[in-house]
Amino acid sequence: MGNRRPLTCLWYYKTAFCAYHLVTSHNTMNSTMCQFSGVFFLALLYCVNASVLNNEIDSPVCFKDGFLFGVATAAYQIEGAWNVSGKGVSIWDKLTHEEPEKIFDHSNGDIADGSYYKVKEDVRLIKELGVSLYRFSVSWPRILPNGLSYKINEDGIRYYNEVIDELIRNNITPAITIFHWDLPQYLRDMGGWTNALMADFMVEYSRILFENFGDRVKIWMTFNEPLTFCQLSDYAGADNPEGSGIKSYLCGHNVIRAHGMVYRMFEEEYRPKIGGEMGIVISYAWEEPYSDSEEDKAAAERARNFQFGWFAHPIFSEAGDYPPIMRSVVDKNSKEQGFPSSRLPSFTPGEVKMIKGSADFLGLNHYTTRLVQQVPKNNSNPTSENDINVKQIIDEKWPKTGSSWLSVVPWGFRKTLNWLKLAYNNPKILVTENGMSTGPGLDDKKRIEYIDGYLRSLHDAVYEDGCNVVGYTYWSLMDNFEWKRGYSERFGLYEVDYESPNLTRTPRLSAKYYTSVAKTGCLPDSLADLEL
Ligand code: NOJ
Repeated sequence: MGNRRPLTCLWYYKTAFCAYHLVTSHNTMNSTMCQFSGVFFLALLYCVNASVLNNEIDSPVCFKDGFLFGVATAAYQIEGAWNVSGKGVSIWDKLTHEEPEKIFDHSNGDIADGSYYKVKEDVRLIKELGVSLYRFSVSWPRILPNGLSYKINEDGIRYYNEVIDELIRNNITPAITIFHWDLPQYLRDMGGWTNALMADFMVEYSRILFENFGDRVKIWMTFNEPLTFCQLSDYAGADNPEGSGIKSYLCGHNVIRAHGMVYRMFEEEYRPKIGGEMGIVISYAWEEPYSDSEEDKAAAERARNFQFGWFAHPIFSEAGDYPPIMRSVVDKNSKEQGFPSSRLPSFTPGEVKMIKGSADFLGLNHYTTRLVQQVPKNNSNPTSENDINVKQIIDEKWPKTGSSWLSVVPWGFRKTLNWLKLAYNNPKILVTENGMSTGPGLDDKKRIEYIDGYLRSLHDAVYEDGCNVVGYTYWSLMDNFEWKRGYSERFGLYEVDYESPNLTRTPRLSAKYYTSVAKTGCLPDSLADLEL
């Protein structure tokens, strides 16, 4: 129990000090005062003796100066105002309106948290948390109603200018995700991310953001979690049958190309004038072998390459291109299934070069861990599941949260970061999301335990293992529209009361905890002693 000793000292110190004050303020006899002064003195002596002489003072768990703490949101999840002032229709507007049964509580983001109308209020909430970074996304159809750059919606530019200016006024660094799943429907009708032209559309859209916001925004992320939106049907890729081993790979291919192209444009045309850094946000649930068997170990490593390496290897590895294991497995399976060429598209040599190294940092979304087991090979259908060929298991012993996919496994965070360090030569990492869901309610001690546990694991990874992590962003600032789970899963440090006309935001206990971490850079010695 590394940090107990200073805590015990503090307790002795505090008790003695309080007792002393209690006595003096009641004007009690001098002898009593002396007695308490004695206790006070003995307490100090105890601390010096036990802690210093016996070398038992552990350094408190603190992040060094300059380490960033932040919070994150995304446009469709918080903004509302889905059809005001020239905004176009996104795929989430269409899905939630036309097929509400696909959303757990049949809800939508029409109003969401009303953040479109609450710029000042939301920035004040961020400010009160004491964090220095706010990651948010721009709604593509709010800027370009049908996704194409010939028609700019000036109100979209005005709105994000307002957000950025208010953040800067409050000394909060804005960090923009260019694409966080709310694709303009018009582009989906053209095939969405399975359409190779999407890379050009993304370049033109990004250019407008750099032109308008680049003078003040210095942290950019092209895509949020391509694994999620290329694999899950309805999310953002195309009308993608879940787990398709054809459309998912096409989507991924165009997304990676688009990322590289946006980065190179930024690097060549904008960075020399306006500075700034650009990365991509990739999700990574740690994949731990189910057993010590060589098969399970190989299965876990294969899964890591298929799920994280798919997007990271072309950008962050020394060789570039898809992970070799992914290339060989999909090529082989495609051949066996009778395809004339691989279902996994190929980059040209020029593209490999253009994409390799196209990031200044890696944005990491990490929430949880899975156990991975080898399963008998099944090559009957061209699915990505059959290509990976593993079973993913959630250990029943791991504490659960409000989301079935998310259990609390802090040690997986450290393993994730160490794997990245090894695989990609210790890249600069910004943790762009980490968090857990609960139901509604302000008492969220479980969330505090979650954040505290994950931050300790992160601290070990940084200061004991040397992983190059520059900041941590909690997901999310406040409750919001959790995609197909609607408003049923709450990730917020602030609770949003969806019944109140004002969509009142109220800090949860975890907001107080996180404020103290962000303001001091240190984790409390013990959660039991926290005064919330
Ligand atoms: C991933 C996504 O980026 C975000 O939109 C989502 O709400 C959280 N994780 C929680 O599931």
